[in-house]
Amino acid sequence: MKLAVVGGGSTYTPELIDGFARLREVLPVTELTLIDPALERLELIGPLARRILARQGHPGRVSWTDDLDAGVDGADAVLLQLRVGGQAARDQDETWPLDSGCVGQETTGAGGLAKALRTVPVVLDIAERVRRRNPGAWIVDFTNPVGIVTRALLTAGHRAVGLCNVAIGFQRKFARYLGAAPEQVVLDHVGLNHLTWERGVRLVGTAGAGGTDRTGGVEVLPRLLAEHGEAIAADLRMPRALLDRLGVVPSYYLRYFYRHDEVVREMRAKPSRAAEVAEIERRLLELYADPALDEKPELLGKRGGAFYSEAAVALTSALLRDTGEVQVVNTLNRGTLPFLPEDAVIEVPAAVGARGASPLPQQPLEPLFAGLVAAVTGYERLALDAALHGGRQRVFQALLAHPLIGQIDLAERLTDDLIAHNREHLAWA
Ligand code: G6P
Ligand code: MN
Repeated sequence: MKLAVVGGGSTYTPELIDGFARLREVLPVTELTLIDPALERLELIGPLARRILARQGHPGRVSWTDDLDAGVDGADAVLLQLRVGGQAARDQDETWPLDSGCVGQETTGAGGLAKALRTVPVVLDIAERVRRRNPGAWIVDFTNPVGIVTRALLTAGHRAVGLCNVAIGFQRKFARYLGAAPEQVVLDHVGLNHLTWERGVRLVGTAGAGGTDRTGGVEVLPRLLAEHGEAIAADLRMPRALLDRLGVVPSYYLRYFYRHDEVVREMRAKPSRAAEVAEIERRLLELYADPALDEKPELLGKRGGAFYSEAAVALTSALLRDTGEVQVVNTLNRGTLPFLPEDAVIEVPAAVGARGASPLPQQPLEPLFAGLVAAVTGYERLALDAALHGGRQRVFQALLAHPLIGQIDLAERLTDDLIAHNREHLAWA
């Protein structure tokens, strides 16, 4: 089984390799190719990947290249984890919206739109080249904004699934609180990428040979909130009373909505996350250069990618080995949330096999969540139009439709700022 990782020069790559090394029973990778335009990064991360596999006695071969077409040749799955413009472009996304009193974030709001506009054309070009070489290969997309990028891929007819680590993060955290194995924790996770709520948490019997038995079990969300509500709320930096009143656990990305103005005040007073990450990356690259290092360093835990490798291994295995296993992924709505268009991309548990991801049926979404989901879906559709076809008017419309923006003068100003800060990445600007 050959896997290719586009953006393989990312400092996240050792997280992924660590998962391949530990979980080789689940996903028997024989060949791994790291692809990145930054050869100097590959020269550090490629050898480290070899050392991590070797330490765990993994027989897989690792190679690296800056030639995309050669790198994806023969791949069964291609993982996308690229960042157009690097942390420098992210720093912009996190900064200029603040001048207009809007959240500066790489996936939410105007910064997220900027990232989508830079990223969608690049990802579509890569996917096209993958398809030309390997029509059967699966694309697993972690490249943000995952909802919009996955919609772009699926709309263009690619074999793609979008992935995020928010759900697996909750699963692991709740399992720890419950003293259970992660496989015993089944989330009722619903929404759009980076706009989700855990409406329920079931504790089910231990996993058997055929995987987790998802039926039955007991609902434990009320118990989790009663016993660990304080810690859960503190992690999310939201009031515990809100979680108790709503009876759900929102993802931490909902803070950008529920506490928008507070977040803006905080962001204005400190360096951007991109600046923080750039510093972590600088130190990580120093560590990676040490030929004695043969495991992922603790410092990598300061990045947001926890459990990302486990989610990726599980998803890739389900796709390539046709397991039908249920996982939280980003895929086409196809009537699952009936108030959204069929071709919207939603983030819900889905059965994953050789034919892709099929969302499990969902209970009707309560108005408290459905309104926001519908609005952001509308925004995502307009964002995709702007990314595909360009033009100031399309950018403006996407911003006007975004529930955190929504006012004419604000949307006009953000449109100008977005274009001014991203000209070098936008073919039409
Ligand atoms: C979480 C999100 C990812 C995002 C990451 C950012 O993992 O699910 O979509 O890319 O956080 O982490 P960073 O360390 O780059 O701030
Ligand atoms: Mn994510």
